[in-house]
Amino acid sequence: MIITIDGPASAGKGTLAKEVAARYGLAYFDTGMIYRAVGLEMYLSHKNLDSEEEAEKVAKDLSFAKMISLSEDADFRSPLGGKNASIVSAYPKVRNTLLKMQQDFAKNPILPDGKIAKGVVYDGRDTGTVVCPRADIKLFITATAEVRAQRRYKEFQSKGLTISYEEVLKDIIARDERDSKRSSAPLKPAEDAFIIDTSLLTIEQVREKVFKIIDSH
Ligand code: DC
Repeated sequence: MIITIDGPASAGKGTLAKEVAARYGLAYFDTGMIYRAVGLEMYLSHKNLDSEEEAEKVAKDLSFAKMISLSEDADFRSPLGGKNASIVSAYPKVRNTLLKMQQDFAKNPILPDGKIAKGVVYDGRDTGTVVCPRADIKLFITATAEVRAQRRYKEFQSKGLTISYEEVLKDIIARDERDSKRSSAPLKPAEDAFIIDTSLLTIEQVREKVFKIIDSH
């Protein structure tokens, strides 16, 4: 069983995808992590983020272990980390290099306790369109830029980060622009995706809708 959950930054995909994975005994793959890892590695090793070739080299050397180790860096989830990820994720050579790693995960999906899972929940931007075009269930979770900025702003505040709401909103709009206008695998719902706008919904309402879709499948 493969479920893909795509959508723009801060739409609430991560929380939802983890809950779906836990409920149905599926492994969870946050595919944004691979682009964050490449962007951060480029940044930490002072590589030129404008160079697609350099980013491709870093992507070729990326392993799951390296990605997990990079995820412990404070900048992995910071605004800077998000920006760097968004830059490298626009490079077709980087995306091609990282495609197999994402697809291979479904061949041997592992749960945190080491057991083999019954399938995978993919969370990202192109998992229903490019990574797993034949997924069993595709969801596209979205919300207005303002609502997403408000959610991310609260998250940053709870982590003690000093950033204004206006800066967060500007960053979300810039990332939406880069993610949806890039030539390679732009952010868009798969034709057969269920589209859920969470702007006016609580997390409980989103969960209820999604579980209903999956249960009726
Ligand atoms: O979901 P996230 O914020 O962790 O993603 C970080 C960046 O990676 C985001 O700007 C878009 C990119 N990304 C992508 O291009 N394709 C994916 N499947 C997942 C993320």
